[in-house]
Amino acid sequence: MNDIFDKIYKDKGPLGKWADQAEGYFVFPKLEGNISNRMKFNGKEVITWSVNDYLGLANHPEVRKVDAEAAKKWGSAYPMGARMMSGHTELHEKLQNELASFVNKEAAYLLNFGYQGILSTIDALVGKNDVIVYDVDAHACIIDGVRLHLGKRFTYKHNDVKSIELNLERATKITEQTGGGILLISEGVFGMRGEQGKLKEIVALKEKYNFRLLVDDAHGFGTLGETGAGAGEEQGVQDQIDVYFATFAKSMASTGAFIAGDKEIMDYMKYNMRSQMFAKSLQMTLVEGALKRLEMIRTMPELKAKLWENVNALQNGLRENGFDIGTTSSCVTPVYLHGSIPEAMALVKDLRENFGIFCSIVVYPVIPKGLILLRLIPTASHTLEDINETLNAFSAIREKLENGTYKKLAKMAMEAAE
Ligand SMILES: Cc1ncc(COP(=O)(O)O)c(C=O)c1O
Repeated sequence: MNDIFDKIYKDKGPLGKWADQAEGYFVFPKLEGNISNRMKFNGKEVITWSVNDYLGLANHPEVRKVDAEAAKKWGSAYPMGARMMSGHTELHEKLQNELASFVNKEAAYLLNFGYQGILSTIDALVGKNDVIVYDVDAHACIIDGVRLHLGKRFTYKHNDVKSIELNLERATKITEQTGGGILLISEGVFGMRGEQGKLKEIVALKEKYNFRLLVDDAHGFGTLGETGAGAGEEQGVQDQIDVYFATFAKSMASTGAFIAGDKEIMDYMKYNMRSQMFAKSLQMTLVEGALKRLEMIRTMPELKAKLWENVNALQNGLRENGFDIGTTSSCVTPVYLHGSIPEAMALVKDLRENFGIFCSIVVYPVIPKGLILLRLIPTASHTLEDINETLNAFSAIREKLENGTYKKLAKMAMEAAE
């Protein structure tokens, strides 16, 4: 008989195997100081491009004040228990009502974390006779939600309307036999490449196919649409999203999440989402903090305006300097370069140590071999000076990548490690 730990001793997994070289620097880095445009990494100031604090609320004095006062008033325990048992309060209800009205839905339900929340949302919406159709580039939380499904599921090519239709056709044939329905899942904004989900085109398919649409709008909430209600509002199809999901982990700069939709559906969800029924309620400091953040999003349009001023300055600047930023249609700003993984590591080290730029790096197997993706998240707290400094740094590192500097550095690093 084998020990289940044997495989762990042998193989640390696709990411874990890099831990010796990467931990503390490329993964699990410690960014220190207040969350803002400039933080500290390894004791040095860096321009921070890797924090999803889109509206700059994380360290806003009014937010910090409300968070501190709420923590003093409630502590971190209140309320104890799951919503259904002993964890329900007036303020939870108030926040739900305000969120529902903000995203133009009849009702909303709070989730204690986005990841578990959406997983259970998917689980609660489908039964074994139903079919799920979802984007192949979906976030891990959607994939894990789909994993719980006992019926058929089909992925469609990323944001490809033809492929969506083809899979809706397949799903329709199956549901005609099983008597089930179809759940289509898209993201409002795909967080890696920044493209908005093709919600308008998906919604148009409702004319021809019978399905319900669940949208994970983690990156769209607060950043897109005239009022900040997200990708559905931006594309004019918010009313056609059957279940709308957003997390507090990005524009709201907090923890928690919610779903919104018709009241009857939300009433069903609150009795059927296992990760919420059997887990502690969102704590009061987070609820009060979220009420404050939502009020600021509603009443301070200048936050979103500043965010977009920065997004446009950064994305236009990168394009004008000849960088490939793909097909982003959101704040998420990817920069695609060509090089090997060791070159990418040398490049990021140079960016952090010598240019004071901290951004996320994505390489194979998340993206195709030979590509390096540097992912920048502009926020309302960045300045034009941050952007100009970054554009100059990017031009410098591109030159070094092209003239082989990082290849040499990577080779030297490898020889030193042997
Ligand atoms: C697209 C998307 N969905 C869901 C989540 C999970 O949300 P949370 O961090 O609240 O668990 C994230 C990450 O925050 C995300 O990027």
